[in-house]
Amino acid sequence: MFQLVRTSALTRTLQHFTKTSLSGAACAARSSGALTSSFSTTASTHERYTLPDLPYDYNVIQALEPIISAEIMEVHHKKHHQAYVNGLIVAEEKYQQALHEKDVATQIALQPALKFNGGGHINHSLFWQNLAPTKLGGGEPPKGALLSEIKKEFGTLEDFITKFNTTTAAIQGSGWGWLGYNKAAKRIEIVTLPNQDPLTTCIPLLGVDVWEHAYYLQYKNARPEYLKKIWDVINWKAVAERFAKAQQAQ
Ligand SMILES: [Fe+2]
Repeated sequence: MFQLVRTSALTRTLQHFTKTSLSGAACAARSSGALTSSFSTTASTHERYTLPDLPYDYNVIQALEPIISAEIMEVHHKKHHQAYVNGLIVAEEKYQQALHEKDVATQIALQPALKFNGGGHINHSLFWQNLAPTKLGGGEPPKGALLSEIKKEFGTLEDFITKFNTTTAAIQGSGWGWLGYNKAAKRIEIVTLPNQDPLTTCIPLLGVDVWEHAYYLQYKNARPEYLKKIWDVINWKAVAERFAKAQQAQ
């Protein structure tokens, strides 16, 4: 793609995301095409970055109610995520022009926009897969290897959720709480990041958006209440699939 982008952590995350994050049966079938094509080096920028479908029927967007309202889901997906996609397209087109003109100063100046919008696209694409309606398994506790790993690191599932929620609720301003797999240490970790910074120190397994646009229409300023409820629609099966792939990743 571009010299600076190619060497950035963001790009490594974009590349890694296409390899490891699209697990989940239904969602992979519906989303992987758009996201895989998103990083083709031959397609146009508009073709590379597109809003992925939700991994559940868009006609029943209220599927996550009462935990997350249909209004939040629609605005979050159609407006906010789309805005990150649009911003990424604009930033990358400017970057292409700057690269063509060998304008290094502009290439450097565009890095924050690429990070913010690229991170927003990566994070939200994963977030939709982290969620599932109850009738599709949302909220069903993890089992097997993932549950064993959680117990090894945190004691019990409840202890993990308490620590995750406490840590994530404490983010100042907007950001994300993550469960990631640290390949070097071969263990799972809780990480928080501000803004739309993508998780690059670990392989992302589960991300929870705590920007106000993710909950304010329903939960107002009660971020801890949103965090308490969201576990009822977490798609642990998809998280477990990502965990298995992360352990095998080179
Ligand atoms: Fe968001």
